[in-house]
This record gives sequence, structure tokens and C-alpha cells, in this order.
Amino acid sequence: MSEVLAGNENIVWHSHPVTREDREQQNQHKGAVLWFTGLSGSGKSTIAGALEKALHQLGIRTYLLDGDNVRHGLCKDLGFSDEDRKENIRRVGEVASLMTDAGLIVLSAFISPHREERNMVRRLLPEGRFIEVFVNTPLAVCELRDPKGLYRKARAGEIRHFTGIDSEYETPEEPEITLNGEQLVTHLVQQLLDVLRREVIIKN
Ligand code: ADX
Repeated sequence: MSEVLAGNENIVWHSHPVTREDREQQNQHKGAVLWFTGLSGSGKSTIAGALEKALHQLGIRTYLLDGDNVRHGLCKDLGFSDEDRKENIRRVGEVASLMTDAGLIVLSAFISPHREERNMVRRLLPEGRFIEVFVNTPLAVCELRDPKGLYRKARAGEIRHFTGIDSEYETPEEPEITLNGEQLVTHLVQQLLDVLRREVIIKN
């Protein structure tokens, strides 16, 4: 069945014979996005990486989309203005949506400071397949960790529009899960595996 898309009558959606459900059946788990949001240095990438390793060992098909890495390629033309961050999240959201359709469990680690953009990605995904993970680590702790020395530079005025310093971070209102970013990563990974089992994204 074809449906003419609003806005461009010459572009028509084409439905293919192999569906997401077929791919999920083959994978023996569902496709979904775990959307990690939080300040720079909050632990998003570390936790996502550790969870991906655990899922991989369970035989689950995954992909990790990481802000710093995606900004080397797909989003290398973007900076940190509100407009560029919005475009960054729009592109990543579309990629995450495609990967979910491919049947993968996508782990995305982006500051994604604005509720509007996070909700935009939520709306791209089928019901129940967008799991917002708020990595709640106090700014003071992130600043103390300062893994890339960027907070120091931001405080010195060498970087402008740095999240938490001179650019805002909007705390999620209703995330599926809030992690205490000061706890052990192994403990946080267990919490996330429990959520995936509870939501019946994974079985084992
Ligand atoms: S987002 O706001 O658009 O979601 P994203 O997660 O892609 O940000 O990139 C954040 C990473 O870029 C940070 O972890 C940090 O290493 C680096 N970075 C460089 N400049 C900034 C800045 N002004 N604000 C925040 N992060 C920055």
C-alpha cells in the first residue's frame, strides 16, 4: 500500500516485504532506543558502552550512537548553538529510528539538552520503543571529573555555550528511568537490563 506524503506529492512511501516484525522475530528481541541524556561528563557514554557489552554477550544486536563520534562524521558540520544542537538531534533521531526499524537496540549518548528535541525523537519511534534514560549527575561532580578538560576551558571563557555553564540543560520531566550517575556502572547496567526485561524488549 502506498501513501502520498504531505508536503511532496512526488515522494511516495514504499512498503517492502520484510518488516520490522520479521527482523525482530529473527533476532529474538525487539528493536528500541535507549536515549541517554545528561550533562557532559555525567557518564552517558561509559554506561551506554558497558550496557552494550552486556547486551552483546547476551547475543543481542546493538549499536551505540555517541555524540562525540557522530560529530566526527554525520554531524561534523554542526556546532553547539541551539539551532545546531537541534539539527544534531534531528539527524541522530532519524538514524536511531531507522536502526530500530532494522531491529537493533540502539544506545544513544547525546547531551540533548532540550525537552522539545528529545520529545521529537520520541515521536519518531513506535509506542514503547523510546526509553529515555536520564543520567543524573550533579554539575559539580561532572566538573570535577572533567574527562576532556572542557569544563576548565568553559570556565576560563575559552569555550562558549557550554552545557551547564553558559548553555542550559533541561532536566527530563518523565524519563522512563533516572540513573544516579555517581553509582557503580555495573549496578546501573543491571538496572537498565531490568528495564529492558520489564518492557519485554529482551527476554533473557
Ligand atoms: S548535543 O548538545 O548536541 O546533544 P553532543 O552530545 O552531540 O551535544 O556533544 C557533546 C560533546 O561535545 C561533549 O561531551 C563535549 O565533549 C563536546 N563539546 C564541545 N563543545 C561543547 C559545548 N559547547 N557544549 C557541550 N559539549 C561540548
